[in-house]
Amino acid sequence: MTRHFLRDDDITPAEQAEILDLAVELKKDRWADKSLAGPKTVAVIFDKSSTRTRVSFAVGIADLGGSPLIITTASSQLGGKETPADTARVLERQVAAIVWRTYAQQGLEEMAEGTRVPVVNALSDDFHPCQLLADLLTVREHKGELRGLALSFFGDGRSNMAHSYALAGAMAGMHVRIASPAEYAPREDVVADAQRIAAETGGSVTVLTDPEEAAAGADVIVTDTWVSMGKEEEKQARLRDLSVYKVTAELMSRADEKAIFIHCLPADRGYEVDAEVIDGPQSVIWDEAENRLHAQKALLVWLLRQAA
Ligand code: CP
Ligand code: NVA
Repeated sequence: MTRHFLRDDDITPAEQAEILDLAVELKKDRWADKSLAGPKTVAVIFDKSSTRTRVSFAVGIADLGGSPLIITTASSQLGGKETPADTARVLERQVAAIVWRTYAQQGLEEMAEGTRVPVVNALSDDFHPCQLLADLLTVREHKGELRGLALSFFGDGRSNMAHSYALAGAMAGMHVRIASPAEYAPREDVVADAQRIAAETGGSVTVLTDPEEAAAGADVIVTDTWVSMGKEEEKQARLRDLSVYKVTAELMSRADEKAIFIHCLPADRGYEVDAEVIDGPQSVIWDEAENRLHAQKALLVWLLRQAA
């Protein structure tokens, strides 16, 4: 049966661990696995800008012996000119998988319903599940076991990153804390789904407004831009509303002394995080950015195995 990866919880906790284990193996020898030999083509479509996602998918598909086909919406018939379902019907006869960065989650669902090949969410307004696989791989490398670790996210709790931390962190058995102003709190249905998962894995998901309480004793400190793609018109309000959630050296000092700092990037230094933190000794952002490559290769290999 075709499996898709549109949200972090489209896989089970056991499958998440399996994909992370595979990523560790693939990272040891980048060119050993040729699952896309042929070469098979993978379509990678962008409605929004990207550096890391574009490069890591293109390089990862090539590492696996495949051929990446990078499509920007402006130069295609997507984006109001053709439906996701019709696009999917065209692509599935020629490509092995479809990776798509878009706005509405619903478009991804329509794409997945319309096709027999795996569809991967490369970031939507609601979730960024590929980033989470890379982030969990990075935390695992630096901290060992994920289960039981406290991960605290600061800023826009309603963002794709916050939602994905809640779901994927809960799946990994972590204690996820989301600290944001009440009007930027994560979506209630996402929190409820994450808490249901956490009840099975031994993790937890807590929504807070107090940044100091959220930081206390945490093992992983995380933030993301305050102005996600598509929210540019709200920039001034967001910079004002989220300012007390900035990750500073003082906030870091409230976390565990061995805490690490991660950020999906791109970052706005001086806004959501101070330069001394993101460029400091506790930051592992460059490992995190590299791990997009290894984690997504593992995801593609795993998805194609399910379809075989
Ligand atoms: N973190 C991330 O997805 O980066 P890009 O927007 O550069 O792809
Ligand atoms: N929340 C950010 C993540 C960028 C990788 C955005 O959606 O713009």
